[in-house]
Amino acid sequence: MMKHYILLAGAAVVAAAVLPAFAADIGGGLSAEQTIAARQAGYDMSAVTFGGMMKATKDGAAAKDQGFQAHALAKWAHVVPTMFPASTASGQTKARPEIWSNNAGFTKAAANYAAAVDKLASLSEANDTPGFTAQLGEVKKACDACHQDFRQR
Ligand code: HEC
Repeated sequence: MMKHYILLAGAAVVAAAVLPAFAADIGGGLSAEQTIAARQAGYDMSAVTFGGMMKATKDGAAAKDQGFQAHALAKWAHVVPTMFPASTASGQTKARPEIWSNNAGFTKAAANYAAAVDKLASLSEANDTPGFTAQLGEVKKACDACHQDFRQR
C-alpha cells in the first residue's frame, strides 16, 4: 500500500515539473476543429435526448420521470452560444455565416431555446405531464426556428 502512495507522490512531482511545458495545450482552449466536433456531438446527443423524451411521453411516462433528460438538455441549451466562436465559421460545419453576421439574431434564437427547455425542466419538476407534453412541442419549434435561419440544409 505504502509503495503505491510513494509512487503516486512521485508521479505528482513529475507531473508538476512537466505540466507547465504543456500548459498551452491543456489550458489553451479547443481548436476550431475540436469545437465544431464537440458542438456536433452535443447536437446529436440533443436529438437523442429530445427523441427519448418524445417517445417516453408517447408511451405514457410521467413528466417527473424525465427530469434528468430535461435538465441535461437545459444545461446544453445554455452553453450553445459559447460553441460558436468566430474561428469556427468554416471547416466541416453546417453553421451558416448568419450566425456571425446576424449574431444578435442567433443569440436570440439560442435564448428562446434555452427558455423553452428551462420551462420544460420546471414542468417536469412540477410533474405537470400535459404541460410537459405541450412544452416538448415548443422546444421542437425552437430547434426548427434556429435551424431555419442558422443551419445549412
Ligand atoms: C440556436 C440555434 C440552434 C438550436 C436552438 C438548435 N440547433 Fe441544432 N444545429 C444548429 C447549428 C448551427 C447546427 C450546425 C452545427 C455545425 O455543423 O457546426 C446544428 C446541427 C444540429 C444537428 C446535426 C449535428 C451534426 O452531427 O452535424 C442535429 C442532430 C441538431 N442540430 C439537432 C437539434 C435539436 C434536436 C435541437 C433542439 C432540441 C436543436 N438542434 C436546436 C443550431 C441550433
